[in-house]
Amino acid sequence: YLVNGNDIFKAARKNHYAVGAYNTNNLEWTRALIKGAKETRTPLLIQVSTGAAKYMGGYKTVRDLVLNEMDNMDVDVPVILNLDHGDYESAKECIALGYSSVMFDGHKLPVEENLEKTKEIVKLAHERGISVEAEIGKIGENQGADGGELASVEDAKRFVAAGVDKLACGIGNIHGVYPADWKGLNFDRLKEIADAVDVPLVLHGGSGIPQDQIKKAISLGIAKININTEFQLAFQEATRKYIEAEKDLDKANKGYDPRKLLRAGTDAITESMKEMISWMGTRPID
Ligand code: G3H
Ligand code: ZN
Repeated sequence: YLVNGNDIFKAARKNHYAVGAYNTNNLEWTRALIKGAKETRTPLLIQVSTGAAKYMGGYKTVRDLVLNEMDNMDVDVPVILNLDHGDYESAKECIALGYSSVMFDGHKLPVEENLEKTKEIVKLAHERGISVEAEIGKIGENQGADGGELASVEDAKRFVAAGVDKLACGIGNIHGVYPADWKGLNFDRLKEIADAVDVPLVLHGGSGIPQDQIKKAISLGIAKININTEFQLAFQEATRKYIEAEKDLDKANKGYDPRKLLRAGTDAITESMKEMISWMGTRPID
């Protein structure tokens, strides 16, 4: 069943653990993530970026895939289906399609316009019981050691007053692989924001952050950690091993069949997810 996740993330912030937000990229990803959640009995937030949704055939295809697989795999943990980094139009589309959560990412807009559009999305979403995440400051895009633009405490207060349920803050975090000279997370700013607002805070670019920094961020109010690249790397490594062992060349066992070729990579996603769940302290549902 789909839930909006508000209670799940509030409980996480209050009790100092985090719940992962995992991006799906295709059928195999979707199954691997559902499997990981089932095996750990933890809530699952499965999300899709605009790019991945395009790749998969659109937001409706993604919704149908997730709902079908939840059914096929007899899901017995709460699932949140979230739009990741959506623009205004995508957020409206996903609200209409019945996603249970949307991130409206207006960070490219002037902040006043971001705030106005966020209010509109909040209104549409809340009428339907859908959760809303906003982004303030800017998550880095692998452009330098400093990360993106730091979120301000003032913006945090204004966006929470606008009704957002979760807040993604630029605190030195970067999407993708972190540069070797990365400066690390800005805990001072995270603490100032966490002291000013009580909504669950979101850490984007969760892949590749050292464990001690993740733990400290959680202790300060991070309750949702977005992870995509980590699983792509795990998938790539396992698939490479399969191919380098020349298993794909095994004609007798049809090692070239995509159902076999993608198996090791798919399993690696689930394994990597279970590790994350354990060090984020994600609580099982019962
Ligand atoms: O919104 C998605 C995440 O922020 C993923 O970031 O690919 O660096 O893990 P990542
Ligand atoms: Zn992100």
